[in-house]
Amino acid sequence: GGSSVGGGRSGALSPSLVTGEVQRIDVNPPKGTRDFPPEDMRLRNWLFHHFREVSRLFGFEEVDYPVLESEALFIRKAGEEIRDQLYCFEDRGNRRVALRPELTPSLARLVIQKGKSLSLPLKWFAIGQCWRYERMTRGRRREHYQWNMDILGVPEVTDISGSILIAEAELMASIVAFFKRIGITESDVGFKVSSRKVLQEVLRCYSVPENLFGKVCIIIDKMEKIPIDEIKRELNATGLSEEAIEELLQVLSIKSLTKLEEILGGAGEAIADLKQLFSLAEKFGYSEWIQFDASVVRGLAYYTGIVFEGFDRDGKLRAICGGGRYDRLLSTFGGDDVPACGFGFGDAVVIELLKEKGLLPELSLEVDNIVCALDHDLQGVAATVATKLRDKGLSVDLVLENKPLKWVFKRAARIKAQRLILVGNTEWQKGMVVVKVLSSGEQYEIKLDELE
Ligand code: HAM
Repeated sequence: GGSSVGGGRSGALSPSLVTGEVQRIDVNPPKGTRDFPPEDMRLRNWLFHHFREVSRLFGFEEVDYPVLESEALFIRKAGEEIRDQLYCFEDRGNRRVALRPELTPSLARLVIQKGKSLSLPLKWFAIGQCWRYERMTRGRRREHYQWNMDILGVPEVTDISGSILIAEAELMASIVAFFKRIGITESDVGFKVSSRKVLQEVLRCYSVPENLFGKVCIIIDKMEKIPIDEIKRELNATGLSEEAIEELLQVLSIKSLTKLEEILGGAGEAIADLKQLFSLAEKFGYSEWIQFDASVVRGLAYYTGIVFEGFDRDGKLRAICGGGRYDRLLSTFGGDDVPACGFGFGDAVVIELLKEKGLLPELSLEVDNIVCALDHDLQGVAATVATKLRDKGLSVDLVLENKPLKWVFKRAARIKAQRLILVGNTEWQKGMVVVKVLSSGEQYEIKLDELE
């Protein structure tokens, strides 16, 4: 068998020679974080490949921002959970900084910075690591990667006859395209959709001041996590009357647009927006994927219109993705507002879902060729063979030590090599190498120049 880690020469550079003492380390990464050994990295790359492919299919450009941002970017005063989960500290220059918990504030910052030089609409996507000091549950960890797609510069209303919401519909279409690619269907997942205007209209009826809106949304978002009495208490503390709270909770339980229309009346923007979105979903061809659910508000203060989340129909997992319209985020940072909507899609919950459904792809290392010298003196020739193949764009695993053939065959199988190329004395005297096609067992000799 092969040699394993730690089984090599010992004592060559032991810690005691470096520091004078042994400091035994915890070999696990910090709680809530992950290593990505090759098999996990393959899965991550596979997932990101599909994120990128879908973004490309929809004409989006990739961007990224620093993982470390100024803390001020993430401090909103609406009582969001994300604020309490911030990884923040002072750097060596006494600046307050934070590991980003999400990408949207960075996007806003960059858009303000670029200002008029940007041509709208802007369609950007990013895949970035985000940090939140969360209580750990299935699919929730302290770092995760998030795929974001955002459209800036397309307002919800682009026509005098009423709402269009094509940007929102387009974003959901891209998530549907992603699910389809990885084998997830509308019987596995769906989107719950609502609009924050539903809440807004209810609050307006009770003359609740506009500036309380964000706060109320954040409280409502916690409804599934904390007892209803606690929710009521918190709502009450913001100044909402008992009556307003009862009405609010009643509206939030509605799961049909018709019912909502009965209660809110047909004239409001919320109803018009939602109807429009559902009709667009039909045009895009994903009606079966979406449903109205008034309880969806999402936990971030900046959403202003349509909000949505992806959920698993078995109800076993937390939200798979979430997003919505946030037309007024830029002005909270002192910039000019630009209509905006987008979503974040984490890497953790969808992997759990794929596991549940038995849809995890089987990915293995795939190298085209394995090249091996059968004699110590032929290592240089093997190197030449490897270079020739690599120059042609073929991958080569070059056996770097003298190993018995049995070992080489085992390794070839493990790395799924298609061909084994052996450099042996007898053949090399004729300027030839042996090629073995591993799938068929076919074997032939070939001149080095003719190898491809
Ligand atoms: P969010 O709802 O906070 O939205 O997160 C979006 C998604 O990120 C979640 O649905 C989930 O897939 C993933 N996620 C969040 N926290 C964790 C965690 N601790 N562990 C694993 N996955 C997690 C936002 O962050 C918005 N910035 C999205 C957005 C973009 N809205 C507009 N544009």
